[in-house]
Amino acid sequence: MKVSVLGTGYVGLVSGVCLAEKGHHVCCVDIDPDKVEKTNRGVPVIHERGLEGLLKKNIGKRFTATSDLRKAVLDSDLSMIAVGTPFKGDEIDLGYIREVSKQIGAALREKSTYHVVVVKSTVVPGTTQEVVLPVIEEFSGKTAGAAFGIGMNPEFLREGVAVEDFMSPDRIVLGGIDARTLDVLEELYQVFEGVDKIRTTPKTAEMIKYTSNALLATMISFSNEIGNLCTGLGDIDVVDVMRAVHLDKRLCPILPDGRRIVPQFTTYIEAGCGFGGSCFPKDVKALIAHGKKAQQPMALLQSVIQVNEQQPRQIIEILNKQFRSLKGIRLAILGLAFKPGTDDMRESPAIPIVNELAAAGASMRAFDPVARTEAEKILGTRQITYCEQLSDALDGADAVVLLTRWDEFAKLPELLADREPQPLVVDGRRMIDKKKLRRYTGIGI
Ligand code: UGA
Repeated sequence: MKVSVLGTGYVGLVSGVCLAEKGHHVCCVDIDPDKVEKTNRGVPVIHERGLEGLLKKNIGKRFTATSDLRKAVLDSDLSMIAVGTPFKGDEIDLGYIREVSKQIGAALREKSTYHVVVVKSTVVPGTTQEVVLPVIEEFSGKTAGAAFGIGMNPEFLREGVAVEDFMSPDRIVLGGIDARTLDVLEELYQVFEGVDKIRTTPKTAEMIKYTSNALLATMISFSNEIGNLCTGLGDIDVVDVMRAVHLDKRLCPILPDGRRIVPQFTTYIEAGCGFGGSCFPKDVKALIAHGKKAQQPMALLQSVIQVNEQQPRQIIEILNKQFRSLKGIRLAILGLAFKPGTDDMRESPAIPIVNELAAAGASMRAFDPVARTEAEKILGTRQITYCEQLSDALDGADAVVLLTRWDEFAKLPELLADREPQPLVVDGRRMIDKKKLRRYTGIGI
């Protein structure tokens, strides 16, 4: 199928390149000429494992990029909207969605054959049919359901493993205004054999996306609240609690041979210093705002955000309990990115933690395997020294504060073994076995 992807960001580029790899002819569109030029040279504008290889393999064959939206739409059978939906004020900003819908509409005015427009961007329930559809009808002068179809097909890509997630999906959600649209969407995803495909309405598809993220965010805040209670009550470690909770056979089923299935989901039921990134905080807040508009207050999700916004404080409180004053204390900060496998600093719990420690007069040496440049942009260089090596960050530290679950931090006990006196380790992700360290504390102890 000939596909135009509108918006060459994280979702658009990954989707476009992967659809080309799966055999479709894809043209990615972006208003930024620099992005288009780089993409056409095979240089991905975002860092995603495996993306560069697939881009280089397909460029000039089944994949190309352009700034000419009109031509890309006219030359394709299906257009996928993958522009950003930033959270502004108290709701998502549909400005880019509206703009691109107008341009698609204008192009469709010139097209005589049937075309399908599908929204891939995360949009609140109702957007596809109440915003995208009427704008395209107005600018094309044509009627949805007759001259063109409208659909919604959310993405479930995790940053860092987005290519893998796209190529091996756990589900494909297809929302369409009618059977004809849904049939075209099924044809697009036919190449993904054996994957569960859900045929539904655009509004339900939009809701599925938000509900998926809201569930995961809720699990994290739930675990953090339990962890905080463990700390408050004393003599309970949340890791012991959660390990036993996970053994509920409804969470980790027992196979006939006695072995356990340990679903990845259980990792979201563990305490830590909070969730971040460009999706969970924004999506949960957008759903709350949308509920408010519909006179449906989202009390639980409001608490999910509230717990998450307070969670970084736990790290400060642990340090306050352990040291008489934070002024002049020497800290090694391990991990700055919002999660491992990325240099993304957006909404990272490390931001409020570092800022508060700096305000308290702590002296910090930080190490993150990849986020240094991004961190410098946000945290500056005045209050923190960035180290090239993990061991450099540990030099002279009174305490080590672990904020991101990078695999290489697992060797911390080894690196600290010979240091005298051994610094206190404050584990914000509970990833180190506490028996391996002489001085250890963390979230939920
Ligand atoms: C999330 C969802 O997982 C994707 O399914 C979804 O498509 C994406 O948002 C999106 O809406 O675009 P992402 O934000 O990349 O993907 O990251 P996750 O790996 O889910 O992590 C989100 C937050 O949860 C991070 O702060 C991370 O530290 C935290 N987390 C993640 C945990 O606390 N525990 C985990 O096991 C995994």
